[in-house]
Order: sequence, then C-alpha cells, then structure tokens
Amino acid sequence: MVNKNIEVDKAGFLNIPVPAEIDLVQAINELKKEKNAVILAHYYQEDAIQDIADYVGDSLALARWAAQTDADIIVLCGVDFMGETAKILSPGKRVFVPDLNAGCSLADSCPADEFDRFLRQYPGYTVISYVNTSAAIKVLTDVVVTSSNARQIVESFPPDAKLIFAPDRNLGNYINSITGRNMVLWNGACHVHEQFSLEKILELKKQYPNALVLAHPECKSALLKVADYIASTSGLLNYASRSENKEFIVATESGILHEMTKNNPDKLFIPAPPNDSTCACNECNFMKLNTMEKLYNCLKYEIPEIYIAEEVVEKAVRPINKMLELSEKLGL
Ligand code: 13P
Ligand code: SF4
Repeated sequence: MVNKNIEVDKAGFLNIPVPAEIDLVQAINELKKEKNAVILAHYYQEDAIQDIADYVGDSLALARWAAQTDADIIVLCGVDFMGETAKILSPGKRVFVPDLNAGCSLADSCPADEFDRFLRQYPGYTVISYVNTSAAIKVLTDVVVTSSNARQIVESFPPDAKLIFAPDRNLGNYINSITGRNMVLWNGACHVHEQFSLEKILELKKQYPNALVLAHPECKSALLKVADYIASTSGLLNYASRSENKEFIVATESGILHEMTKNNPDKLFIPAPPNDSTCACNECNFMKLNTMEKLYNCLKYEIPEIYIAEEVVEKAVRPINKMLELSEKLGL
C-alpha cells in the first residue's frame, strides 16, 4: 500500500536511503512480482535499469507497451513526458517514474501558453507534435509522432497540406529536407543532442577512418550532414546490427551504447563527444536521475506517481492514438 507518511519533494522524489545490505536486483524483482508491476525503460537509462527492465525501447515502443500491458502498475524508467504518455494511454493503471524531476529540455522548450499563442497565427494548419512534449501540448496537437515514425506520418499528409511541427527545430528541419515539405517549425531543441561537437567527431573520424557516424535527428543540421545514418534510437540500433561495418561513432545519448554493445559484441561503438566537456560521452542528465535505488523505493512505496486530470487525458489521448493507428497502418 502507498505510505502516506513518507515525505517527498515537490516533484515527488523519494529521498529515502536504501539499506546497504539489500540486493537491489532481487528486491526489485520480488516487488515487481508481488505488485504485478511492469518496468519499461528507455535506451538512455543507466545499464542496470536497462538490464532489469521487462522491456527496453524507444519512445514509440514504450508507448505501445504502455497501451497494451495487463500489469496493474507501470514503472516508466525514462523522463516525465514518457510517464505521462503511458498514463494517458493507460489511465486505469498506476504509472510511476522513479524520479519525477526527470524532465526534458526539449519538452520544456515548448510551454503550452506560448504554443497556444503561436498556433493562433496559423489558422487551418494541422499540428504535428513530437512525443517529447507535455500533456498540455498534446491537447493542442492533431497527431503525435516519434523519431521512428515522423517522416512517414508527415508524408501521409497531402504534399500541399499546411503543417506545423513542434517542438524540435532540428528534427523538423531534417524532415522538411528529406520530404520536400515546408512545415512551420517551433524553435525548440534538446540540450543533449545540440551539444555534440562536430570538430571532435571529425577528429574521431580521422582516428577511425572506417567508422560510420550514426546520428539521432535531434542533432544540429551541420552534424547530420556528416552522418552516415540518421534515425531514432531503435533505428540506429537496428542499423548497427545489420551493418557489416565494425566501427561506429554514435551521436546520441551514450546510454544506447549498452544495448548496441550487447547486441554486437564484435563491433566497436565510440560515443560522440560533447562540445564543452572533458568527458568523452554525452549523457542526458534528466534520464540519468533514475537509479536502481530510486526504482526500488518507487516500487516499495509506490511514489512518485503520475496524475493527469481526466479532461486532459481525454483530449491528449486522441493525437497519440492517431499516431499509433497511423503507425500500424503504415507498417511501422
Ligand atoms: P527516441 O524516440 O528515439 O527514443 O528518442 C527519444 C528522445 O528523448 C531522444 O532524445
Ligand atoms: Fe529530452 Fe534530450 Fe534528454 Fe531526450 S536526451 S529526454 S530530448 S533532454
């Protein structure tokens, strides 16, 4: 049962020390079974969380699993918009994120009141929003996309359709460039993907001349120009496995290297370095807020939970379901 006496901070982070003698893997597995919970994790989570999760996937896969699970509890190890999406798709289930301070700079770059004002300048436009948005933005959206299906969903509209794409300017620009569309873009970005250093990547290319550069489309266009393959996290993973190449420079959050290496132990994956750091890889500080200790506490005390007003769920679910239907129809 939920312990109402436990103190949490304003974002619902449960700051209770976990006794050192606890075997976290065993304890988490026991709690999961006892409570009929499912653990869904994004590829950017720390390795131990990916290893204990029931499913590890990209934003599209996480949404699909959340919609289909028959578990009573969903623990979404990712960031807040992923937890919100799970709750919107499964409002009858209890959804938790181990640390609800795990936000997203891209979602935060699109506040709902400003976006609402922006949309008023474009009457008659169809609003396409990347899943990295708050529930309030999804309410203002006609169809949600992820980086796995954005291109195909945009192309499912007639060539002369008047489209708005939010919030990621890099993904929007990239899709405009490959589809020949001229979508109006919201000027948002992800601080992690914008931070990769083109110079350092070109240096690495000299050091590893056979390496292919893999990049997430949230990266800046100058970087995408030198990339050999551009795709969502799951798209990059699939490409790395099917490619005969043995060396790759990976320009997305470095958590993905865990799954890449696990699936391809004979290949070398080099994390693309950020601009202003002495560190060799680029991590999303929000994604890395979730830890095994917080996952344990979250399952044990059933905190912090995602709550979304019913009327918001009712409206926000429509563009997400539209995405799931279109993805199914398009065979994605
Ligand atoms: P994916 O849709 O590829 O999982 O990306 C999510 C994300 O947050 C990228 O920064
Ligand atoms: Fe958001 Fe960027 Fe972190 Fe992805 S990597 S969750 S877009 S801040």
